[in-house]
Amino acid sequence: MGIQITPSILNADFSQLGAEVARIGSADWVHVDVMDNHFVPNLTFGPTMVEALARSTSIPLDAHLMIEDPDTNAVTYVEAGCGSVTFHVEAAKAPIRLAREIRKAGARASMALKPATPIEPYEDLLPELDMLLVMTVEPGFGGQRFLDLCLPKIRRARALMDKHGVETWLQVDGGVSLETIERCVEAGADVFVAGSAVYSADDPDRMVADLRAAAEAVTPR
Ligand code: DX5
Ligand code: ZN
Repeated sequence: MGIQITPSILNADFSQLGAEVARIGSADWVHVDVMDNHFVPNLTFGPTMVEALARSTSIPLDAHLMIEDPDTNAVTYVEAGCGSVTFHVEAAKAPIRLAREIRKAGARASMALKPATPIEPYEDLLPELDMLLVMTVEPGFGGQRFLDLCLPKIRRARALMDKHGVETWLQVDGGVSLETIERCVEAGADVFVAGSAVYSADDPDRMVADLRAAAEAVTPR
């Protein structure tokens, strides 16, 4: 599949989200951070807003659910029009059943790991997943500093994917910028969420192109 850039709208202007998404026309996905003020100490969108956003753009939506009860709520985001739905393994009660339900509902199924959550216990789940998200900040807010201590986990996750021969995408989220993206590519990531880097740029779509070029210039591992 190659490199994909998925800007997060968390730091966009919420009073005009349709217009904000129109500023990133070359993005592969729009990353939508759903927060419930329980799993993380912040509150953002629900399914109704996500559905309105899906109708406003032809770019597919990549929902990142930072919610306490993904088992009950994840499929709602597929029905709202998301092409990819990510749940946190720390919150999921039955991650295999949940991944299968997301796929069956018609979206790509993805599982996220917080910075302190290891990949190894979940090795056997990789064939059930279309994408693994390795968080490189503690989830909850945009604009935090990239945690270099997560790079070895990205490397180990990529090695496990190679071992299992799966096509699972490897996404990184948190503090991704022109300064940090190369390290992520070298470690084996191929899908890049960038929030503040994109929306604090004068020309967000130019930043999407610059991030893509910086990532494509690096040979993985
Ligand atoms: C944080 C969110 C991220 C956030 C990234 O919990 O999951 O998607 O928007 O923002 P930056 O790129 O600013 O770290
Ligand atoms: Zn996110």
